[in-house]
Amino acid sequence: MKLKLRRVSKTFTGPKTAFAAVDQIDLDVYDGEFLVILGPGLCGKTVLLDMIAGLEEPTKGEICLDGRELHGPDRAIGMVFQKKALLPWKTVMQNVEFGPRMAGVPKGERRKTAQKFIDLVGLTGFEKSYPHQISGGMKQRVGIARAYANNPEILILDEPFGALDAQTRYSMQDEILRIWKAEKKTILFVTNNIEEALYLGDRIVLLSKCPAMVKEIYEIGLPRPRDMVSEGFLKLRERISDNMDLSV
Ligand SMILES: Nc1ncnc2c1ncn2[C@@H]1O[C@H](COP(=O)(O)OP(=O)(O)OP(=O)(O)O)[C@@H](O)[C@H]1O
Ligand SMILES: [Mg+2]
Repeated sequence: MKLKLRRVSKTFTGPKTAFAAVDQIDLDVYDGEFLVILGPGLCGKTVLLDMIAGLEEPTKGEICLDGRELHGPDRAIGMVFQKKALLPWKTVMQNVEFGPRMAGVPKGERRKTAQKFIDLVGLTGFEKSYPHQISGGMKQRVGIARAYANNPEILILDEPFGALDAQTRYSMQDEILRIWKAEKKTILFVTNNIEEALYLGDRIVLLSKCPAMVKEIYEIGLPRPRDMVSEGFLKLRERISDNMDLSV
């Protein structure tokens, strides 16, 4: 077991009110798996990921990586954010080598690492471009390369393709599968899109609407590349869709 969540809850308390965003989540993530967390909008997905990434402290419960309890940000966990998080004044290369640079990795070595991941995400030739000069899909590729350059054990992606047009989104789904197979790192991928979840995941953890609770866990046995109109795919799609809280 790579990552273990036990009764993880988050309540935001104001002067007079308390708001439960995540409620008693138990989750086991296996080493090397592609786990998708699927939940409706504003159900508490980002709050959950922020706790795993150490950006928010759980109100209750514990999060363990390889048996060690996590408190605060950890280099073993890499994050690709939902909102664009590239440094706009830095080039593609400088964005990707930022983490290793902060960690004190010497220039030659960090350049080599950054170049490896720039190549891996298909951005060879764009090292000197600035974020405003590249497309949305390319920006997400930079975000992925940047996360990998820190050599994390688990990669968390928070609705990374939500802002992309449909065609780019499909090609990025294939890209992330290709990168996952090449790098063999555990991936935790969040989405609100059932087809995306079914196309990508080894397993899908379905969350309820706010507060986020685990509603059901689906084991997706379908072979890859997955055929989105195959009988097995459509059947699972219907089962999950019947079970998902889409009402506001
Ligand atoms: N720092 C905070 N203080 C108070 N409430 C918060 C805070 N962060 C998030 N929330 C609330 O928690 C709920 C869940 O938010 P969250 O961003 O996790 O949703 P989400 O599932 O990621 O939504 P989306 O699909 O739109 O990204 C929302 O109602 C949000 O307003
Ligand atoms: Mg979110």
